[in-house]
Amino acid sequence: MQGKTRTPIIIDTDPGVDDTLAILLAITSPELEILAYIVSFGNTDVHATYDNIYKLYQAIGRHIALHPEDAVRFPNFSPTVPPVLAVGPEGPLEGGRHFAQYFHGRDGLSNISERHPDLNVDLKDSSFDHNFQPVKESGVEVALRLLESRPDRSITYAVLGPMTNLAQLVRQHRQTVVDKIGRVIAMAGALDVPGNTTSVAEFNVFADPYAAKELLVPTDPTSGLPLDRVILAPLDITTIHELPFSHYIQKVDPAFKTTAQPSNADGKSPLVHFTSSVFERTREIMLQYGKDALELHDIVAIWCAIENPPEINPVGDLPGMSSGWVIAERTFDIERAGEITRGMFVTDRRKDNTAYAPGANRAEVQAQLDLRRLGHGLLESTALPARVEIEDQELEQRQQKGIACIVETPGPSVLLQLLTRRVWGIQ
Ligand SMILES: *[C@@H]1O[C@H](CO)[C@@H](O)[C@H](O)[C@H]1NC(C)=O
Ligand SMILES: *[C@@H]1O[C@H](CO)[C@@H](O)[C@H](O)[C@H]1NC(C)=O
Repeated sequence: MQGKTRTPIIIDTDPGVDDTLAILLAITSPELEILAYIVSFGNTDVHATYDNIYKLYQAIGRHIALHPEDAVRFPNFSPTVPPVLAVGPEGPLEGGRHFAQYFHGRDGLSNISERHPDLNVDLKDSSFDHNFQPVKESGVEVALRLLESRPDRSITYAVLGPMTNLAQLVRQHRQTVVDKIGRVIAMAGALDVPGNTTSVAEFNVFADPYAAKELLVPTDPTSGLPLDRVILAPLDITTIHELPFSHYIQKVDPAFKTTAQPSNADGKSPLVHFTSSVFERTREIMLQYGKDALELHDIVAIWCAIENPPEINPVGDLPGMSSGWVIAERTFDIERAGEITRGMFVTDRRKDNTAYAPGANRAEVQAQLDLRRLGHGLLESTALPARVEIEDQELEQRQQKGIACIVETPGPSVLLQLLTRRVWGIQ
């Protein structure tokens, strides 16, 4: 990696179980240079997500103190310029505030604060050496300052939680964003698959559909994100990437069980104790859903950032992707205040020849669904009805630009290997 430029990245996140693992992957990845964490509400409240950065750094710090030879595995842990830690939004731009504490726990890390007090952090303890700079500036101010301080189009802005902070940044400083941002990679949405929060909505978009809509479905060319630099990792592609707990037990922690037999720090590395303490509760919840694995949603977004640094593509073109990554341009609108469809990506299948195209070879479509292990029904219609025009100019004339959505990655097994090697140092 020496001599190669690293991709400067701002991580906008609401840790969260899978966010925390995604941040671990970022810290262990020499391709990235972490400039900042902007924590926001989301999986839990912003105070808890803020604390979780401390908890994660404490675990890595303890690990390196005990295994100094491992320090090389964490190239982003003690850089010359430590990343900034800023507090982002406490709630969405509009509408009610929703968390996902049933899944992530009130502390965002599966309630380890109660089950494993040894992993708690005293924020007032000034002797705690945390290798990042907590600042008083807001998430928007930090993002603005960093964008201005770097060459045009060099920074990747990764969104692993609700898109609220980015929407506020664009509201206040859109021209700087357009001039300076290199790439936005967001874990967001569900296109052709069910949601994971409601039947139709993915959590991050559900948590702030107003922000997602403002950024991704702008009403005119002078608002929203520069869409030719946006890449989405929707549930459609992230869900098939998993960390099977059998793999975790076999490779990382043979003593890993559930909360009935909580992780014991003795005889394990501090980092393994930390991840096992978090995952033991997640495993119980996932087993209730019939899956003995952790889904790697946010991890896919960071992986995409690692392998796809910003590049200047001709205006209007889709981002170029490195080998193994495939994107498709998708057109959708976002429901904000729906009675039952808040946060839904309403895809326009009339313009869409990538999903269920009229006249598509059904056997091929089904083979693709099978390959991705996605369930499908027998009654999917591929017929295109005649269009009914309505007398609502505004609704009909809204120009929508397509957005690059990841449809293929180098594969779940490649990610699983990368994660195991980088995060836990196991080949
Ligand atoms: C966290 O703890 C609270 C209170 O003890 C409990 O109601 C909740 O189910 C727990 N959540 C998780 C994810 O463990
Ligand atoms: C739903 O997806 C989000 C990613 O946006 C993830 O953080 C969250 O853990 C998922 N929830 C469940 C229950 O899988």
